[in-house]
Formats: sequence, C-alpha cells, structure tokens
Amino acid sequence: MTANLSLSGRTILVTGAGYGIGREAALTYARAGATVLLLGRTQEALNDTYDLIEQEGLPQAAVLPFDLETQDEEAFRELASLIEQHFNHLDGVLMNASILGQRTPLESYDWNTFQRVMQVNVNGQFALIKHLLPLLRQAPADASVIFTTSSVGRQGRAYWGAYSVSKFATEGLMQVLAQELENTSQIRVNCINPGATRTSMRAAAFPAEDPTTVTAIEDIMPLYLHLMSPTSKDTHGQSLDAQPQRAPSA
Ligand SMILES: NC(=O)c1ccc[n+]([C@@H]2O[C@H](COP(=O)([O-])OP(=O)(O)OC[C@H]3O[C@@H](n4cnc5c(N)ncnc54)[C@H](OP(=O)(O)O)[C@@H]3O)[C@@H](O)[C@H]2O)c1
Repeated sequence: MTANLSLSGRTILVTGAGYGIGREAALTYARAGATVLLLGRTQEALNDTYDLIEQEGLPQAAVLPFDLETQDEEAFRELASLIEQHFNHLDGVLMNASILGQRTPLESYDWNTFQRVMQVNVNGQFALIKHLLPLLRQAPADASVIFTTSSVGRQGRAYWGAYSVSKFATEGLMQVLAQELENTSQIRVNCINPGATRTSMRAAAFPAEDPTTVTAIEDIMPLYLHLMSPTSKDTHGQSLDAQPQRAPSA
C-alpha cells in the first residue's frame, strides 16, 4: 500500500457495516490502518464484522447498533456525542446503508414502504451528517464523506420507485453539502456508484440473475479506499463510478 492510501490513525464511521459493501469497506479501511466504527441495524452482523477485523489483528473496531429508520433527532445527537466522548473526532464517514423497497409501478407502490425507504436512504443520512459534521471539522487533517448512489439515482427508471427517488436525493444531499463546504473546510464530499455488485440487495433486485456473473465486492474497493484516503484530497462534489467500464445497471 502506498503511504497516501494509508488510513493509519484515522477514525472512520461506516453505515450498513454488517453486510455487503459496508462490511467489505469496513475491512478495507481497517486493513489500511483505520479504527472503524461499525454502524448498522443488526447487532449480530456488526459483531461478525468486528470479529473479522479482530481475527486479522487490525485496529480494534467499535460496534454501534443504530436503526436509521426509527430514531428521532435526539438519538442522532446522542450518537454523535457518544462518538465524540470515545474518539474525539471523525476522519471519514461512508454513508452506505440503504434499503431497496419494492420493484413496482408508482401507482401500486405501498405508502409505508415509500416512507421507510426515504427515511433510511435520505432522512437518516441527513440526520447523521448534520450531527457528525462537527466531529469531521475536528479532524486533524483532511476528512472525507462518501455517499452511496446508484445508476437509477442519475437517470430515473420504471419500477424502481422510492429507491430511485432516494438516490436522486442522495446525489442532491452530496451536491448541497459539497457546495456549502467549498473552500471553507478540509472536508471533501463525494458519491460512489458501486455499479452491479454481488450482494444480497443485488440478488433481491435481480432474483433471476446468476450471481457469479456479477462483480465481487472486493473488486470495487479501490475507489472506496482512494476516496477515503488523502490521495483524493482534491476530489470534491463528484459522483464517481466504481465500475466505470460497465454499462449502468442499478
Ligand atoms: N449491490 C449493488 O449492486 C448496488 C448497486 C448500486 C448501489 N448500491 C448501494 O450500495 C450500498 C450497499 O448496498 P449492498 O448491496 O451492500 O446492500 P446490502 O447487502 O443489503 O446492505 C445494506 C446495509 O444497509 C444496512 N441497513 C439497512 N437498513 C438499515 C437501517 N434502518 N439502519 C441501519 N442500517 C441499515 C443493512 O444492515 P441491516 O440489514 O442490519 O439493517 C446492511 O448492512 C447501498 O446504498 C446500495 O443502495 C448497491
């Protein structure tokens, strides 16, 4: 690993760290030397990620069970305060947690599912970044915020409903925040579109697809590491593809 890709001494929060891309990103950041704060809904899954980090002898992680759907603003405030007490500041945040919702026409889209998807994928991220920004401002060097988008967040697609709408909102959240921080802070803000990646969300969206034809999670990690490390110091307000060579899929 080049010195600039090192995350040694950095503290990075990863949402949705119990499964899929979030788990792999947490491992990638820990292997680069970071202390990773593992946030997600399912405690056992977070514990499994914690154990994987432990087994490799990497910097000890922390498990933060937190449901982005059901918490009120006070809970987000308390979460930030807990992180500050134990870690003082944050050097990076990967906003990765999302839910897929239904694949159905808007006309028949379930009301409650629409609210849930927007709550987890958009409102939860707004609340998190609102309360974590003061911790990112306290980072001793550069800090990085990565949001997770999708091809259907750049070009609307039939039957992708709330998920597609929520990813447009994610791009918007990133752009608004990036402009607000322009030239006034050492915090850079970007989006990653992972592209089709072999996870349970992908399998749920494309049940007939042969998973072995889909890119393995490890293969998209170079962009996740680059954007979190000082090598990307000058990248700000961008929406980048982890698989630029592949046609848009989801
Ligand atoms: N895989 C792809 O092909 C693909 C393509 C484009 C974009 N993406 C995006 O990449 C990101 C990761 O997706 P993935 O494929 O790795 O999906 P995944 O395996 O389903 O993982 C989603 C993660 O989000 C967490 N999560 C869901 N609801 C939550 C809540 N209410 N509170 C806290 N955490 C919650 C899940 O944990 P719990 O189950 O414990 O809640 C899980 O760890 C998502 O933003 C997704 O939209 C994926």
